[in-house]
Amino acid sequence: MFRDADSRAAVNELDLEPGGLRGYLKPRMGSIGKPSSPVVAAPSAANPITCRPAVFADCGRIARLICVAGGGLYEFLLGDLIPFVHPANFLTIATASAGYAMSYRNCRVAIDAKLDAVIGMANVFPTDLLKQESLMMLPFSRRNHIRALVDLHDWGSMFVNALAVSELYRCRGIGGQLLDWAEDLAKQEGFDRLSLHVWADNTTALNFYKARGFIQLAVGNIPYHSRLRHVGGSILMQKKIGSRYRCSGSRGCPRAPK
Ligand SMILES: CC(C)(COP(=O)(O)OP(=O)(O)OC[C@H]1O[C@@H](n2cnc3c(N)ncnc32)[C@H](O)[C@@H]1OP(=O)(O)O)[C@@H](O)C(=O)NCCC(=O)NCCS
Repeated sequence: MFRDADSRAAVNELDLEPGGLRGYLKPRMGSIGKPSSPVVAAPSAANPITCRPAVFADCGRIARLICVAGGGLYEFLLGDLIPFVHPANFLTIATASAGYAMSYRNCRVAIDAKLDAVIGMANVFPTDLLKQESLMMLPFSRRNHIRALVDLHDWGSMFVNALAVSELYRCRGIGGQLLDWAEDLAKQEGFDRLSLHVWADNTTALNFYKARGFIQLAVGNIPYHSRLRHVGGSILMQKKIGSRYRCSGSRGCPRAPK
């Protein structure tokens, strides 16, 4: 689709859209998960897209895609905190640190093998890890505005914090593949359900999740704001999955291993 470094830059620019922050912030003292499972799809001329666990060098691209997934939330929370520092720069630091649930260690990326460019990502971790993070570094008015979202969670589930695919690569099954990984990870870690938040007006994502077995659990009432332009609030969705595995006790799993 693209050639050389200019093409890679073009892919990067695609994702400088409004974006979001779910469960960002204060470093956790304990358990970040172990790196995720190995590559499942080999690149080929016919299908140059492959998925693999994220590595440190992916952090910048992961941060941009997390912004895309957030639908403006991160710009709302982090914009203009420090002049000329884009919210994606804050997120790059968070993804680079093992102390945040948003860490690259909790991410899987989709790669365009021809460009060696990250064109999709999923950030997945136990929801309960969010209890160890804090929004206190943010201005009160901003965190107060999204309080309904921060308080509304399916505790005890595995949480899909962010899922995004670069615009030119959508509708090729990449998002579905990353979501399948999230489900497999949840099973392996002993969780019986996945949860996530999606803006009520993000009909593409809403339909995507519904088609994959997610149901609506509740709605967090986030009022429309000139800097966070969503109507209908944020929907908490859940998918029950068959839990065939026992919890290993890692990644903040709420159940003790048997
Ligand atoms: C939501 C999102 C991650 C989906 O990623 P994706 O790679 O387009 O997902 P898929 O290709 O697996 O599936 C998308 C749809 O396209 C369809 N599709 C898949 N391959 C296709 C193809 N080759 N041609 C046409 N349609 C195709 C799928 O059937 C699916 O439709 P369905 O849900 O009705 O079955 C992507 O739209 C995105 O990044 N959106 C912006 C960020 C965002 O909103 N993230 C969610 C935040 S909660």
